[in-house]
Amino acid sequence: MTPVIAKTREELAAVRSGAAGTLALVPTMGALHEGHRSLIRRARQLADTVAVSIFVNPLQFGPHEDFDRYPRTFAADVEACAAEGVDVVFAPTREVMYPDEPQVTVKSGPMGERVEGVTRPGHFDGMLTVVLKLFHLVGPDLAVFGEKDAQQLAMIRRMVADLNVPVEIVGAPTVREIDGLALSSRNRYLSDAERRTALALSRSLQAGAEAAGKGPAAALAAARAVLDEAAGATPPLELDYLVLVDPATFLDVTGEHTGPAVLAVAARVGATHLIDNTPLLFGKESS
Ligand code: PAF
Repeated sequence: MTPVIAKTREELAAVRSGAAGTLALVPTMGALHEGHRSLIRRARQLADTVAVSIFVNPLQFGPHEDFDRYPRTFAADVEACAAEGVDVVFAPTREVMYPDEPQVTVKSGPMGERVEGVTRPGHFDGMLTVVLKLFHLVGPDLAVFGEKDAQQLAMIRRMVADLNVPVEIVGAPTVREIDGLALSSRNRYLSDAERRTALALSRSLQAGAEAAGKGPAAALAAARAVLDEAAGATPPLELDYLVLVDPATFLDVTGEHTGPAVLAVAARVGATHLIDNTPLLFGKESS
């Protein structure tokens, strides 16, 4: 089934008014891969109508980031949506989303200045602004986001709670290549050698998870050892951060922490910024 393609607000509103039952939205920036397809399948399980938005949001890219070279693969994206039984693809132009320079935007607050927000100042403000606009335009009952972007997911949960946005937020697990590399639209920037170096991200998380039974400090140290070694690889891994944080606030957890935490890592390999994370559990229940 070919999805209806809506490019304007009017086209979207027309599709929306004809859609019966519950509606799920999967917001994306396109360049769809198996990770996105797993989000769409989750949405398909949960709702009668599935909409996918495809919009490379300029507001969430810094001046020296990859907005211009971000992969745009619209025809292949629509094919992927058709194969997954998507009902509607909302693919607005920049003029449709931002008819003029927005004066009022969402402020992500202190949480948006932590961890990934240090590396990418303003990123979470731009991301939350477009997500809130998409929620208003599409009017979904629920929206599905990947757990790979753990801080993004936590910030969106916080936004809908703080601003009383009537959309249920559903997280879906990270999809990985067989060798552990988390799927990302940015993986296509990597040369073969860079991709080999990039595997250190998932390996570090694996090492952290294996050491988690000995506590937070041991988990961090085990993960850091893998990243330190990759810093000497060719090409090198340049670490932006390795943190162990509370999943809801993204504040660092202490050495005595018990309960859930997220071990999150970000690094540059060549010109590519990559992130990954794994949930960990400390205390009596941890293995
Ligand atoms: O995760 C993404 O692809 C983007 O940040 C999102 C949520 C579609 C907003 O532009």
